[in-house]
Amino acid sequence: MPQSYLIVGGSSDIALLLAESLLDDGHAVTLLARDSARCQTLENRGAELIQGDALDADLVQQAVQAAKDRGDGTIAGVAHLVGSLLIRPPHAVKLDAFNEVIHTNLSSAFLTLSTACKTMLRSGGGRLVFTSSVAASLGLVNHEAIAAAKGGIESMVRTAASTYSQRGIRVNAVAPGLTETRLASQILKSDAMREAAVGMIPLKRINEPGEIASTMRWLLCDAPDNLTGQVFHLDGGMAKVRN
Ligand SMILES: NC(=O)c1ccc[n+]([C@@H]2O[C@H](COP(=O)([O-])OP(=O)(O)OC[C@H]3O[C@@H](n4cnc5c(N)ncnc54)[C@H](OP(=O)(O)O)[C@@H]3O)[C@@H](O)[C@H]2O)c1
Repeated sequence: MPQSYLIVGGSSDIALLLAESLLDDGHAVTLLARDSARCQTLENRGAELIQGDALDADLVQQAVQAAKDRGDGTIAGVAHLVGSLLIRPPHAVKLDAFNEVIHTNLSSAFLTLSTACKTMLRSGGGRLVFTSSVAASLGLVNHEAIAAAKGGIESMVRTAASTYSQRGIRVNAVAPGLTETRLASQILKSDAMREAAVGMIPLKRINEPGEIASTMRWLLCDAPDNLTGQVFHLDGGMAKVRN
């Protein structure tokens, strides 16, 4: 049955694939994204774009309302893919730069969680999926800021899963390792950097963005109702398997 989904950070490389797959199945898709040009094809296919910043509380509320309206009063699921990356040792990071990473990744995830849950509580529940990173589970050189932000997301996901467990709301996350998107391009600038990165991954390859998108889609649409508070490590074994 067609349902209504909201994607916050809808212009991300992974989000574009997630949105396409939801549209392929006939669902209503609402996007909150800064970059309207990247969302044009999805808009042409019927997605609704709320353009702007994922840290703007009024806009997030507007996006949740739009998704609710398109779902006749209910939102089946919300995915959050807003993110940034800063790879630098703490002694070379000013507090402002650290806070920027926390705001972009963690505070925006909280704003999405709090705003969506307010609506889902009234409409009988729904599913939320957030985006962590392998850096939350593994001590990676120079990843302190992003590790703090994504570790916060994973803890928040488990806690929210508990808070809303009796209210029909399911909260999970994916934790990708290195994935072939714009965000990773700074780590994959040269053949030597790519080789070094792949060498750290037990499966010896980098994720395709579609692998993350299809897992998020499953969590939003098809996962069992008794699955909540989980973090899915899509990282070629990096966080959990000996290299
Ligand atoms: N690629 C990887 O290796 C990797 C690994 C682990 C986790 N992840 C996570 O996967 C998620 C998706 O990233 P991606 O790989 O698809 O890269 P991406 O294309 O760079 O996506 C990041 C998105 O975040 C959006 N964004 C940042 N700040 C925003 C704000 N204040 N308001 C609205 N949107 C904002 C960007 O918007 P604009 O389009 O306007 O710039 C961009 O669309 C992120 O949470 C990232 O941390 C990625």
